[in-house]
Amino acid sequence: MLINGQPYQFNIDSRTSLLDLLRDHAGLTGTKKGCDHGQCGACTVLTDGRRTLSCMSFAAMNDGWEITTIEGLSSADGDLHPMQQAFIDHDAFQCGYCTPGQILSAVACVEEGHAESDADIREYMSGNLCRCAAYPNIVAAVKQARNEMEKA
Ligand code: FES
Ligand code: FES
Repeated sequence: MLINGQPYQFNIDSRTSLLDLLRDHAGLTGTKKGCDHGQCGACTVLTDGRRTLSCMSFAAMNDGWEITTIEGLSSADGDLHPMQQAFIDHDAFQCGYCTPGQILSAVACVEEGHAESDADIREYMSGNLCRCAAYPNIVAAVKQARNEMEKA
């Protein structure tokens, strides 16, 4: 399995979720466990660029896919992804627990072309819950990053 561009091999129970694999076997704890039932979006990662709730996906099903977690989003020299920078610029978090999932979901939302309006962003980010209710700031961050990503 490729995770953030690095090849990994695991010897795991076939029932292991992708979320538990990332956190407990790969040591990538940036991906958060919220509900563990597919309801909150905290565990969102990208599999071949598509949003995946890692708590709802068996790790073994992802063999051959490229997984991107929050640890893999910045560039190799440490520059933040425009979405990460936008979340900082717009103060789009309070406790930060939902933030890795929000950011990965937001990257895919822009790349899907679902970030053209505030209503679209709210709709297509609705699977990512924020108990701190930072929603207006998250929408502002997604719009800033969308403009940056479209220029790139
Ligand atoms: S932890 Fe996966 S959706 Fe909540
Ligand atoms: S920033 Fe606290 S849950 Fe979203």
